[in-house]
Amino acid sequence: MLVDTFGRVATDLRVSLTDRCNLRCSYCMPPEGLEWLPKPELLTDDEVVRLVRVGTELLGITEVRYTGGEPLLRRGLADIVRRTAELEPRPQVSLTTNGIGLERLAGPLREAGLERVNVSLDTLDRDVFVRLAHRDRLRDVLAGLDAAVRVGLTPVKVNAVLMRGVNEHEAVPLLAYCLERGYELRFIEQMPLDAQHGWRREDMVTADEILAHLKTAYELTPAEPGSRGSAPAESFLVAGGPAKVGVIGSVTRPFCGACDRVRLTADGQIRNCLFATEESNLRDALRAGATDEEIADRWRAAVRTKRPGHGIDDPTFLQPARPMSAIGG
Ligand code: GTP
Ligand code: 5AD
Ligand code: SF4
Repeated sequence: MLVDTFGRVATDLRVSLTDRCNLRCSYCMPPEGLEWLPKPELLTDDEVVRLVRVGTELLGITEVRYTGGEPLLRRGLADIVRRTAELEPRPQVSLTTNGIGLERLAGPLREAGLERVNVSLDTLDRDVFVRLAHRDRLRDVLAGLDAAVRVGLTPVKVNAVLMRGVNEHEAVPLLAYCLERGYELRFIEQMPLDAQHGWRREDMVTADEILAHLKTAYELTPAEPGSRGSAPAESFLVAGGPAKVGVIGSVTRPFCGACDRVRLTADGQIRNCLFATEESNLRDALRAGATDEEIADRWRAAVRTKRPGHGIDDPTFLQPARPMSAIGG
């Protein structure tokens, strides 16, 4: 088991497969992109699968989510998914993606054993999309979402980050769009994880504000009072249900006390928190010939030191050196 000193148990492994992305969402990356990790530093497909196997066989990992950067850019993705779904005990396998390329890949990924996808969609307006993500790819994202439902990667969840003066006015239209198509929409508070270090608390659209926008058009009632567990999203029934909408208030309504996550970066570092200041290098241990047990020991030690919370409100808070794209969303 992966236990920290506060008694939290990590069972949900989030694996970043690349730090590259084909969008440039302003809350994540500058328009010119970033200096990507050099190829030799990235875990190979075999190394990824080995570490995931150590997690599931020896450490109690039950859920594996592949992320990026943009994980659909990783050539071996379907093969990695297939080998993950063949592990014993078999973990749940899901993907968080921007949706570009999903139109073509949804079918093969489903066949490989992928169970669910979460897709980012911040706007339904082509001009806003281009302004926000610096690429004209809204059509591809919508087609990807459509394909995900068609092949049964369900429930399909949609993640939307609202930004003041950019897409804040789209809360209601986004929900209408997702309700119509059966996607489960979650709005996310923007976190200080952008490469540009431009996040300012005053600019953030808060969970309260998001709910106020939605309530101008929809009746919302708490979906699971008291039973949210480790889910980051607070869930609301829309007009009595069964459709739901979620709000992920990472900053104003933190859920760190119930966190069950641990992260593996594309270059093989364990991070015990999105906001961790330290990492543990499993890649070099693995390349130096460590046994599965030795890797598991190192991994346990890395989780043990997890801090109680993200500390965004502490006066001494320092944004992590790695941006979201290099940590894994
Ligand atoms: P489901 O199991 O499908 O609900 O997945 P999820 O919501 O955990 O995954 P997803 O990758 O879609 O993440 C959605 C958002 O939740 C991310 O964009 C983050 O904003 C937030 N999030 C995910 N993991 C963490 C975390 O460990 N800490 C915090 N503070 N926020 C997180
Ligand atoms: N704050 C909140 N969410 C973010 N994401 C990326 N950067 C940030 C940020 N700074 C979200 C994306 C995607 C998920 C993986 O993380 O919108 O849905
Ligand atoms: Fe867990 Fe850290 Fe995210 Fe809090 S900020 S939920 S402790 S990973």
